[in-house]
Amino acid sequence: MSTILILGATSAVAGRIARYFAEEHQESNHHFFLVGRRDESLQALSSELVMLGHSVAGVGVVDFMDIEATGQVIRDAYAALGSFDYALIAHGMIGDQLLSESQVSEALHIVDTNYRTVVAQLVVLHGLMSSQFHGKIGVITSVAGDRGRPRNFTYGSAKGALHLYLQGMRSVAWGSGLQIYTFKLGPVDSPMTVDHEKNFSFTSVDDAARHIYQAFESRRYVHYVPGYWAWVMWVVRWLPERLFQKLGFLSDR
Ligand SMILES: NC(=O)c1ccc[n+]([C@@H]2O[C@H](COP(=O)([O-])OP(=O)(O)OC[C@H]3O[C@@H](n4cnc5c(N)ncnc54)[C@H](OP(=O)(O)O)[C@@H]3O)[C@@H](O)[C@H]2O)c1
Repeated sequence: MSTILILGATSAVAGRIARYFAEEHQESNHHFFLVGRRDESLQALSSELVMLGHSVAGVGVVDFMDIEATGQVIRDAYAALGSFDYALIAHGMIGDQLLSESQVSEALHIVDTNYRTVVAQLVVLHGLMSSQFHGKIGVITSVAGDRGRPRNFTYGSAKGALHLYLQGMRSVAWGSGLQIYTFKLGPVDSPMTVDHEKNFSFTSVDDAARHIYQAFESRRYVHYVPGYWAWVMWVVRWLPERLFQKLGFLSDR
């Protein structure tokens, strides 16, 4: 039996991860707490998990931009579950890149959603979980955070900052029993990319979720999802600026 908190449980990838936990351990009776801003979708996931033989201690409906209210929901979840064996932070949004370059409010909306709200959640989680001496915190970030590209650099900068924050937090927690995971996703065919033209680089929601579910059990703490993105992004990260600018598939919008 594990206690599992999912922040951003309405995300397609997070919902599938929850089902992996439930399907792979039908005999375990996990205790879930699901948080997001769409009640109907949270209730639907909750019913599925219960049908699979698990329990849902609660559902928290909150917009993560409300930092205070979200902190309170996390504390309520902790009181309901008694501990967090797993805490997954999954929410995010790409936003309108072009608009974010001319409109401060769109730029800050993207940065706040993908970075500020996550840091706020991590501070609360760390406060609660550091005295447990066990538990795993996993955060979904993106390969977009590895190099700023015209197509999505506002979003990418927030995901990149998150990577650094998680690195620092992992060092603080090192050896304490609390384990911090960074999951860097490549493009996924999910509601987030519904308007994007799909090509070979896209992974299915199911594949992405299975990778993350399995990665949560490894003793490696930074995972590219799928794994080949580690090699792709190694090259992209280290490409000299002049060469990068000549490669239209990387440097165009
Ligand atoms: N899809 C990709 O290509 C891709 C690539 C790299 C990384 N990622 C990352 O993977 C994670 C999961 O995304 P996904 O692919 O599963 O897309 P998704 O289904 O669109 O999930 C994103 C979720 O974030 C939630 N969210 C956004 N802002 C919120 C807020 N202020 N308060 C509460 N919830 C909020 C959305 O809630 P609503 O449903 O209520 O809007 C939605 O459920 C995200 O962190 C994303 O950045 C995705």
